[in-house]
Amino acid sequence: MLNINEYIELIDKKLDEYIKIQYPENIFKSMKYTVTLPGKRLRPIMCLETCKMFGGNIEDAIPTACAIEMLHAQTLIHDDLPCMDNDNFRRGKPTNHKVFGDAIATLAGDALLTFAPQIITKYSTNLSAETTLRVLNEFFEYAGAYGVIAGQVVDIENEGKMQERSKEENSNILEYLHIHKTSDLFKLSMKTGAIIAGANEAQIKDIENFATKFGFAFQISDDILDETATFEELGKTIGKDKASGKLTYVTLNGLNSAKCKVGCLTDECHDIITRHRLKSDIFNQIIDSIRKRAGV
Ligand code: IPE
Ligand code: IPE
Ligand code: MG
Ligand code: MG
Ligand code: MG
Repeated sequence: MLNINEYIELIDKKLDEYIKIQYPENIFKSMKYTVTLPGKRLRPIMCLETCKMFGGNIEDAIPTACAIEMLHAQTLIHDDLPCMDNDNFRRGKPTNHKVFGDAIATLAGDALLTFAPQIITKYSTNLSAETTLRVLNEFFEYAGAYGVIAGQVVDIENEGKMQERSKEENSNILEYLHIHKTSDLFKLSMKTGAIIAGANEAQIKDIENFATKFGFAFQISDDILDETATFEELGKTIGKDKASGKLTYVTLNGLNSAKCKVGCLTDECHDIITRHRLKSDIFNQIIDSIRKRAGV
């Protein structure tokens, strides 16, 4: 049984192994730069832990878990570009485009998007062809225009538009963009972990429900931290959401209401875990860390 630090160590070792620097070096260096900077590794940990919870072997899920972290890094590289959120720092270091330039950073994101599913097909040697195909289908569903990209589009399109809409309209848009830009990668992580372990459809539905609420709470906590944390704590520039007119739970409803919402959603997450006897100290610790960081 691995604790969180042991999970991170395992994931970091595999990420380093999977991305080998080769010609043309700059693209591989740029891909590896953001992927291997220290992140919380929540998505791969949640993939591996879900696999374990359903009786699977975590070794079988490592390529998928690492592929999802690569996909996550891709979303971060593109999210930080000048044409998107225009951020200069990520994970405590200059953003990818600040180091490699806009062109290589854009290409590194594109490259990771295709490199990641190749990691699944190349290294998931213990999985049946049918399971690999199911995992890939989930990957494509959540990585693309039905998933995280849909969320990012609605995020960008709604910058500076909050005053033009009613509270109810803004709330509906906000729910859509949080679920897609953030919950979708948690859904992908947990569903693929469950699929690899051979979980049944009802169990996969429960996991999806958990990941939807968890992702929503996680994004609200990120939006709270954008207002309350320091650069040293977060490793990224703070106070950007308000300045760029982002529609977030905090800009729409205020800090207190955002903290309450994180409290309710994470209570529901705890309930799902308990109700379905999906007991996992790792999930309890992750949920509690979100609450703590958000000041709940
Ligand atoms: C940042 O995700 C992007 C959001 C969805 C808010 P994380 O907070 O998980 O980033 P890292 O991986 O720890 O850097
Ligand atoms: C990011 O949301 C979601 C992604 C798909 C990357 P944010 O734009 O709030 O994430 P940060 O604050 O830059 O990490
Ligand atoms: Mg963004
Ligand atoms: Mg951003
Ligand atoms: Mg943010």
